[in-house]
Amino acid sequence: MVDTKTQYLKIKEEVDAGIREVLDSAAYINGKPVQTFGNNLSAYLNIEHTITCGNGTDALQIAMMALDLQPGDEVITPSFTYIATVEVIALLRLKPVFVEVDPATFCIDPAAIRAAITPNTKAIVPVHLYGHAAPMEEIMEIAREYSLYVIEDNAQAIGCDYTFTDGSKRKTGTIGTIGTTSFYPSKNLGAYGDGGAIFTRDAALAEKLKMIANHGQKVRYYHELVGCNSRLDTIQAAILNVKLEHLDDYIDARQKAAAFYNQAFAGVEKITVPVVKPYCKHVYHQYTLILNGVDRNALAEYLFSKQVPSMIYYPVPAHRQKMFDALGGSRYNLPVTDWLTERVISLPIHTEMDEAQLAYISDHVLNFLNA
Ligand SMILES: Cc1ncc(COP(=O)(O)O)c(C=O)c1O
Repeated sequence: MVDTKTQYLKIKEEVDAGIREVLDSAAYINGKPVQTFGNNLSAYLNIEHTITCGNGTDALQIAMMALDLQPGDEVITPSFTYIATVEVIALLRLKPVFVEVDPATFCIDPAAIRAAITPNTKAIVPVHLYGHAAPMEEIMEIAREYSLYVIEDNAQAIGCDYTFTDGSKRKTGTIGTIGTTSFYPSKNLGAYGDGGAIFTRDAALAEKLKMIANHGQKVRYYHELVGCNSRLDTIQAAILNVKLEHLDDYIDARQKAAAFYNQAFAGVEKITVPVVKPYCKHVYHQYTLILNGVDRNALAEYLFSKQVPSMIYYPVPAHRQKMFDALGGSRYNLPVTDWLTERVISLPIHTEMDEAQLAYISDHVLNFLNA
C-alpha cells in the first residue's frame, strides 16, 4: 500500500546524516532534534504550540487528560474511524457516543452531532479520515453554542488546508481546542518508528499537555499532575525534520496519483471515487472507493492475484467491536456507517507511484468490473 523504502532512498543522505548526528551527540532522549522538530512543525502548521509525544494514540489520550474530563462525561465521535480515536475515550472511563458520518466525505456528520448532544456532552472528536477534512466550521459553531471542547484527530490529514466561508485558511489539527497527529511510518508524515504530536493555541493548555506527557512534572522529580511517559524519540525527530521539508511535495504526489485514479474511474457506475468538498485540500492518506453492487472480496482477491494490494479501512466499525459490548456498542443504529463498512476499499496510494503503476492498478480494477 505504501513504498517507504523508495522514498527513503531519495532522502537517504539527509536522513542518515541526521541519525548519525544523534548517535554522535549521545542525546538519545529529548535531544535537540525533538525541540527543533516541534518548532518546525509549529511553523509549518502556523500554530503556537506543538507538544511531541510517543504516538498518535498517546496524543489523543494526553489531550483528553488535559481537558479534565470526568468519568461518565460524553464524548461524541464517529464510529467509522480507526480504533485509537475511540479506545482512549473508553480507557479514561469517559463515554464514547458514536455518531454517523457523511457518506460523501467519510467524516463526522454535524447534524448527527447536534442530535447526540445531552447535558453530559463535554467534547467532540472529529476525525479527518483518509486525508479529507471534517466540516470544522460547522463543528466549531456547534462547539461554541454548547460550550464543548473539540479534539481533532488529524492522524491521517497532516498538511490538509481548510478554507472557511470568509476565505481564511487553517491547517487541520489547528482549528479545534486541541489537535493530534501520528507519525506512524505509513502516515503522510511518517517516521521510521512511532511518533505523535499535539497542537494548541492556548499557552496554559500547552503547558499542561507538556507536563502530562512527562509524568506530570514541570520540575524534575516534582510531580504536580497524574501524567504518563510519552516521548518522541530523538532519532525519529531527526528523521521527521528531514521529511517535513518534503511534506508538501509528498502531498502533491498523492494528489497526482488520486487525479490519475479519478480520471481512470470517471463515469464507472460501480465505483464512487473520493469526493472533495470545496473547503478542503484532500491530502489522500488513503484513496478509498465505494463499490456499488460489486463483490468486494472477489475484487480484492483478483487484485491480489495480480500483485495489487488493497485494504478495507476498517472492516468493523467501532460500535460493533467486541470491546464496546459492555458499553452498549451494539445498541447503536448507524446505517450509514454499516453501509460504508460493507462497501469501501482502498487502493495503493503513496509518494512513489508512477503512471505505469497507476495504470496497471486501475486497469485491473476495471478489468474485474467489466468481466
Ligand atoms: C485516525 C487515527 N487516529 C489515531 C491513530 C493512532 O496513531 P498511532 O498508531 O501513532 O498511535 C491513527 C493511526 O494509526 C489513526 O489513523
